[in-house]
Amino acid sequence: MHTSHLILDPDDPVQAESRIAEAAGILKRGGLVAFPTETVYGLGANALDPAAVAAIFEAKQRPFWDPLIVHVADEPMLLRVVSEIPERAHEAMRQFWPGPLTLLLPRSPNLPERVTAGREKVAVRMPAFPHALALIRMAGLPIAAPSANLFGRPSPTTAAHVLSDLNGRIDAVLDSGPTRVGLESTVLDLTLNPPVIYRAGAVSREQLREVLGDVVAYHPATGEIPESLPSPGVGIRHYAPTARLVLVPLADLVATARAYREKKIGIMLPDEVPGHEIEAAGAVIFRWGSFTEPATLARNLFAGLRTLDECGVETILCPMPGEGQGLFAAIRDRLAKAARES
Ligand code: TXA
Ligand code: MG
Repeated sequence: MHTSHLILDPDDPVQAESRIAEAAGILKRGGLVAFPTETVYGLGANALDPAAVAAIFEAKQRPFWDPLIVHVADEPMLLRVVSEIPERAHEAMRQFWPGPLTLLLPRSPNLPERVTAGREKVAVRMPAFPHALALIRMAGLPIAAPSANLFGRPSPTTAAHVLSDLNGRIDAVLDSGPTRVGLESTVLDLTLNPPVIYRAGAVSREQLREVLGDVVAYHPATGEIPESLPSPGVGIRHYAPTARLVLVPLADLVATARAYREKKIGIMLPDEVPGHEIEAAGAVIFRWGSFTEPATLARNLFAGLRTLDECGVETILCPMPGEGQGLFAAIRDRLAKAARES
């Protein structure tokens, strides 16, 4: 299959609109289109077409037990995929949509089973990025879209990342440059009381609490198989580079890098650590950003892991930022999952 690379010219709205229309046409015909959102690039297909949904799993090599998020552009579209909208969901939507918050809601019987992997709740979100909304509106369809990477790999934050995983496996990628947030949406189950966060993300627990009151974070018991978890993505090695990822306290980074002298290593290097000490130890460096700026760390995280992989390092050393508040919770979650052995 040939994958069309549809670059959107930021200075030419007419050109952008005609390429988005081309992509919307592919979606209407049952094809696969990767597209940028404010979080990461998604791999979209018509959520109401079982064959198109099956093709997403095939292209990503994603196991059928891991369900997909459905992306919508307005409330009538939402009502095509859910059976009801609880009052608390209305509050969350008023506050955080369009934006990087995914809600689990009771599914509509019209939705193909494989979207939710047979579960009774469907994950839905309304993305904020204008080109994503324009694509969904022009297609006129709810769009099922996981991150546009091969299963288990770091999520794509540029069209080049998408092509490196999926070139020849999908119909097209819409390219509007790097994504703004760089980490995926927060996954929240509002049908439970108190609501449960299954995946920390761009909307923080603290922000949710201001609107919804108590909100708890889910922690899977160790050793559970992912199929049986309430949200399968929470329990597995994920977002992982090919190299082995080793997490170290910031204070030990330089000493640990020196101890690895014999091996080819890469380092996710914060601005706070002087690079020359580590370069002397022969490490490949990715300049990650300041440890006081979580938005920068989030935006660069997956690009850094992919860049170091491309340099052929065997091990990536990465210091753990923050203490688990706000966006730091999501960054730490992705690093912990990427560093798991299985
Ligand atoms: O920011 C994002 O959320 C991006 C962009 C493209 O929107 N999408 C994304 O999708 O990250 P994906 O498939 O890579 O991650 C979706 C997560 C997985 O951990 C999955 O297990 C969980 O949401 N999930 C999806 N549907 C679910 C459902 N019905 N019940 C429980 N968990 C669900
Ligand atoms: Mg994903």
